[in-house]
Amino acid sequence: MSEANAAASGQFSIGKRAINRLGYGAMRITGEGIWGRPKDPKAAAATLKRLPELGVNFIDTADSYGPFVSETMIREALKPYPKDMLVATKGGLVRHGPNVWLPLGRPEYLRQCVLMSMRRLGVKKIGLWQLHRIDPRVPRKEQFEAIRDMQSEGLIQHVGLSEVSVADISLAQKYFKVATVQNRYNLVDRTSEDVLDFCAARGIGFIPWFPLAAGALAKDGSVLSEIAKKIGATPGQVALAWVLKRSPVMLPIPGTSSVAHLKENVAAAGIELSDEDFAALDAQGKAEFKKAA
Ligand SMILES: NC(=O)c1ccc[n+]([C@@H]2O[C@H](COP(=O)([O-])OP(=O)(O)OC[C@H]3O[C@@H](n4cnc5c(N)ncnc54)[C@H](OP(=O)(O)O)[C@@H]3O)[C@@H](O)[C@H]2O)c1
Repeated sequence: MSEANAAASGQFSIGKRAINRLGYGAMRITGEGIWGRPKDPKAAAATLKRLPELGVNFIDTADSYGPFVSETMIREALKPYPKDMLVATKGGLVRHGPNVWLPLGRPEYLRQCVLMSMRRLGVKKIGLWQLHRIDPRVPRKEQFEAIRDMQSEGLIQHVGLSEVSVADISLAQKYFKVATVQNRYNLVDRTSEDVLDFCAARGIGFIPWFPLAAGALAKDGSVLSEIAKKIGATPGQVALAWVLKRSPVMLPIPGTSSVAHLKENVAAAGIELSDEDFAALDAQGKAEFKKAA
């Protein structure tokens, strides 16, 4: 039997760049609290090196993962990058310690983020650069103008936003074309349903971070277990298959530092849920979400 391949998840175009919809999140190849080097750098590097062969050509990272560790490891493991690979990064957060994330949206800092990410990733232009958070203390106009200028200078090819509302996207679109939006979303976290629908209607890529709820949805006993057993998949695979079926603009980026989990996650690309199973999961997920609210 041939190995799992992310191409089975279908393709999505960001401008002229077509990527396989099931991508990879590179936040987990760092230390505890997303701080410093990973516990097992060899395993993390092996996971990265395995991506092209599994058809994963969309990687999500950020300068703040480590900080700097994730971007550096990606360059070391994958440069020269396969031609079809899109490494998306983010900037606009500073780190003062494990699990500490502070927005900083001063235009001169955003520019430094982009320039330093280019250096760490070893690229002349960033294929997709995402504003990690809008800084509430800096006028949005200043942040968006800085991004627009970097795009017109050719430092950034496409622009994305992260953790934003429909109003934020609409405002940003006055400055640049919003190619992608990255918000927390999974079967049992439906806070961003309106943002997803907005993106789907406009062909904006929607990158659901936390698609496995940090592994909770991959465990036995989760809301997905019953259908997973029925179709002979793992709960985590069903969680990914469900988001993929939810919308053609959905670009999930499950994060892992292990080749075994990576292979398992990529195999989800080939799982097609029936409409009936999709609807049953949808209803269960919405009920869980309401219960937790
Ligand atoms: N925009 C934002 O603000 C934001 C915030 C957070 C994350 N992100 C991005 O979104 C990506 C995904 O989010 P996430 O990493 O927080 O959550 P996630 O993908 O839902 O879950 C990752 C966790 O699940 C475990 N896992 C992965 N595959 C598994 C499998 N097959 N079986 C069992 N456990 C599995 C991983 O552990 P192992 O390493 O042991 O596999 C890891 O601890 C990140 O990597 C990052 O790129 C963005």
